[in-house]
Amino acid sequence: MSRRKLVVGNWKMHGSRSVNAALLDGIVQARPFGCDVAVCVPFPFLSETAVTLSGSDLRWGAQDVSSHEQGAFTGEVSAGMLAEFGCRYAIVGHSERRALHAESDQLVADKAKAALGRGVTPIVCVGETLAQREAGETEAVVKRQLSAVIHTLAHCAGEIVVAYEPVWAIGTGLTATPEQAQAVHALLRAQLRAAAARADEMKILYGGSVKPDNAATLFSQPDIDGGLIGGASLKAADFVAICRASPA
Ligand code: 13P
Repeated sequence: MSRRKLVVGNWKMHGSRSVNAALLDGIVQARPFGCDVAVCVPFPFLSETAVTLSGSDLRWGAQDVSSHEQGAFTGEVSAGMLAEFGCRYAIVGHSERRALHAESDQLVADKAKAALGRGVTPIVCVGETLAQREAGETEAVVKRQLSAVIHTLAHCAGEIVVAYEPVWAIGTGLTATPEQAQAVHALLRAQLRAAAARADEMKILYGGSVKPDNAATLFSQPDIDGGLIGGASLKAADFVAICRASPA
């Protein structure tokens, strides 16, 4: 089955108004791409990004979302707030949030549910640490992480985007080989098939040191439907090259 590729930039905590303007302009000028393209930016830049990208086919999203609708949750941002001005995606369960903010599988699942409830597509990140891979636990870890989301979303599980991001490959320059990544993507696809009627249409992105020179081979794997790009999404030329590496 051929799925249209999706390439998403995760800017993490980088950027400034002037830097963003130049970066977004570089991406906008390079259109059209043969794949769908989105940027997930820090909260303060969301509305300006929405304005900059309006009228283009580039999509934008947030890097997190609260599991709560509203209330006394200082510092949190709700899915309703994101949806109100057209946010398309929210990354949930990034390994940096799981590790630095002790986010549990269930909290990640609740965030995905809150996003979907407001029409924001969650990009659910799963991935094992180096120690877990070396202990032969990769399959068990990613299945456990995804299973919490599938369980919580029930019949809506088919609406999410999944991102496989091996923690040992994030920001390290160590990329999973296309075969290593494909093997995990195939496992995740099988797990989705058991839970969602439209599993074959769902996108499973790979993230972890994707660069212009390794993107094409990763994206040519049968179950890799695009990428979630960190460092290389901060340079327009690199991000554009990765988007162009993605076959339609
Ligand atoms: P790098 O591309 O910098 O390895 O980051 C990957 C990532 O964490 C994207 O969410």
